[in-house]
Amino acid sequence: MDKLQVQLQALGLGPDLPEIAGLLASGLGCDAGTAYEAINLATDLELGDLFVILPKLKLQGLPPAAECIRNLPNSPLFSTPYVDGVQLRFFFGNRKLASLLLPYIAERNTSYGRKDVLGLRDSTDPGAGKKRIVVEFSSPNIPGKFNGNHLRSTLLGQFVANIYESMGWEVVRLNYLGDWGKPYALFAVGWERFGDEEKLQQDPLGHILEVYTKIEDEFKPEMDASRQAKKDGHSTEDIESKGIFAERDEIFRKMEAGDEKTLALWQRLRDYAIGSLGTAYQRLGIEFTEYDGESQVKSETMDEIEAKLRDNGVYEESDGSWVINFDKHGVKGLGTQIIRGRTGSSTYLLRDIAAVLDRDKKYNFDEMIYVVSSRQNSHFLQVFKALELIGRADLAGKLRHESFGEIRGLTDHLHKPLLLGNILDECGDIMCGVAKKDLGDDISEHALAVMGDPTAIAGLVAQDMFGKRAQGYIFTPGRMTSLEGESGLKLQQHHLLLSSAISELRAQVEVMATELNYAALEDEGSTNLLRILAQYPDVTAATYKSLEPHALLTYLSRLADAITDILGEESDDEYEDEAGPSDAQATEDGPEVLKVKLALYESAKVVLEGGMGLLGFPVVIA
Ligand code: ARG
Repeated sequence: MDKLQVQLQALGLGPDLPEIAGLLASGLGCDAGTAYEAINLATDLELGDLFVILPKLKLQGLPPAAECIRNLPNSPLFSTPYVDGVQLRFFFGNRKLASLLLPYIAERNTSYGRKDVLGLRDSTDPGAGKKRIVVEFSSPNIPGKFNGNHLRSTLLGQFVANIYESMGWEVVRLNYLGDWGKPYALFAVGWERFGDEEKLQQDPLGHILEVYTKIEDEFKPEMDASRQAKKDGHSTEDIESKGIFAERDEIFRKMEAGDEKTLALWQRLRDYAIGSLGTAYQRLGIEFTEYDGESQVKSETMDEIEAKLRDNGVYEESDGSWVINFDKHGVKGLGTQIIRGRTGSSTYLLRDIAAVLDRDKKYNFDEMIYVVSSRQNSHFLQVFKALELIGRADLAGKLRHESFGEIRGLTDHLHKPLLLGNILDECGDIMCGVAKKDLGDDISEHALAVMGDPTAIAGLVAQDMFGKRAQGYIFTPGRMTSLEGESGLKLQQHHLLLSSAISELRAQVEVMATELNYAALEDEGSTNLLRILAQYPDVTAATYKSLEPHALLTYLSRLADAITDILGEESDDEYEDEAGPSDAQATEDGPEVLKVKLALYESAKVVLEGGMGLLGFPVVIA
């Protein structure tokens, strides 16, 4: 099936295809197959729904476009086309569009706009079934702050995972915790001095961060001295072989050597941290398939990689460390990177290279996407290149780093320590503060509690997805709370409006006739809404390709506007009703009209909820 046919089918127009092509064939005297090839689905709705490229009809002597229009028979499917250069542009006839589209959406319900674009794996494949993708995202450090990069990775990663799932992939959601290495070892030094069991149990992530911040402060003078020595071209060995440096390195050495006592503490803290992280992710509707982490990378795999690097002549010793000089091996600008440190400890880079091999064995994935900030662009190029250097170009070819620009200004507006739960709490407070200011006593404490999280998340997500991923942005509470433009709050509000309009109609429709009067949807507002709904499969397909959620957000904002246009008119009608006798359309609607309106609203709700779900908004339930 070609693209047009797929799209037309997604619009419920599949069976009418011969009608369109037949219309052209009979009116213009061309072959129906050729006519079919000349039909295209428009992407800009302002210009029409379909367009036909006249030269492609291969008409004898190419008659003027105006003459073509005159010769076309009338059809309920279209209004009269217009000429645009060498194209004829068609708008669907409203009634036809409604009668095709609404049952189509109702039947597919939440799978409207989703597609199995993939088909299955080759049945000879041992993992036959759906294609499998690993999406690695969020990946904060324990210990450490949940910074803007972790926040963006979490929000964008959830979107990437959702859109892949909706297109028929089996998705493994992986959180690669920074739970190993020198930062953790430094924390363990701090734990001996400042650790408090009770505090740990009350607020695990908060206390872990508190201890870490304290030991970082104590460590700073040593770090500064070492940096200075490096700058001056002196050896750092003297500085790094004593004090907190030495304590930290000793703990890390013990961890890598499998020392039981050291690992028992590490395991306990990790478990606590994952427990509280899980609670925060739940608020976002995120469930990871696995909490992976730097600690989980197998040491045998790391050994295997080093052996290959050595065999292939790309592993060099430098100042006691083992390195790859990427510049020498065909990638200029990646420099020389340490793979195994002077004290024999593994590095972030070595762990990441080995993790690819471990995950390949564990998940047998078809693709893997890292949703990580653009700060790590070079790091991922190094990981991919290193895989090639050990002869695993096949694996490197399945990997993609989807990067993004940074969020700035988080701490200008958020005052609690940067942890995911705190960020959500504070954004919820900002949202509730605005609602209280606008509504005063009209909003109950219960309502505030219910709306806190979903509105905060909608605000965060919409702000995050406002521009292209590569662009960073400045965190601005005012943008989160705004109802203008592509706002998350607006989508939540319109979703609530739509839901209550649906409940009202449902209550009236209960005992009604089954007929739907599609003619009642020929007004401008309904037509506009229908045409927007028809675009949804195209929008999700394009978003899947680009992995730019912005296009979907813009679309949903247009959808929300189209919904209010209609609901706004209706409530104006009701208002006039109350004010005195008028045309009183809302109450005079017959059952067939109420029913068709209900079908329209329900379709709009399916699309609005579906789109919000893909972006990662939990919806406010009234
Ligand atoms: N934990 C890292 C950080 O906070 C991000 C991990 C990214 N993923 C990876 N496979 N290296 O910077």
